[in-house]
Amino acid sequence: MSLFVWKPEYSVHVADLDSDHQKLFSILNSVYENVMSSREVDCVLPKIDQLSTYTNYHFSKEELYMREKGYSGIEDHIAKHREFTRSIEALRNGYHNNDLEVSKELIIVLGEWLLRHVLKEDRKYAELPTSLGE
Ligand SMILES: [Fe+2]
Ligand SMILES: [Fe+2]
Repeated sequence: MSLFVWKPEYSVHVADLDSDHQKLFSILNSVYENVMSSREVDCVLPKIDQLSTYTNYHFSKEELYMREKGYSGIEDHIAKHREFTRSIEALRNGYHNNDLEVSKELIIVLGEWLLRHVLKEDRKYAELPTSLGE
């Protein structure tokens, strides 16, 4: 069973960003499944790299979107993105140290964080009228 699954009710009403969120949930899921099946470090690290690369790609896009929209809460939102990026680095380091328990816990924390973030923070810019800042 999948632990992290994007649902239509998580939508931020921007198709491109919704599809990024779907992809992020799916990558997190595969990291989780890899760690849970306790495979070799070599097998999990590329997944963590993929999560890190895709997260950076999504955050840059979302930050640009908020800037273009003139969203006033952008600085606070960016700070939250940086927090997440640092947690991914902690996951990578934990895995380097071969600490499976720490890795499992961190992935769950990351998944829960992402879900809360999409539902609460990303929705704030989603609720703005599209004409704002234009
Ligand atoms: Fe965000
Ligand atoms: Fe997002």
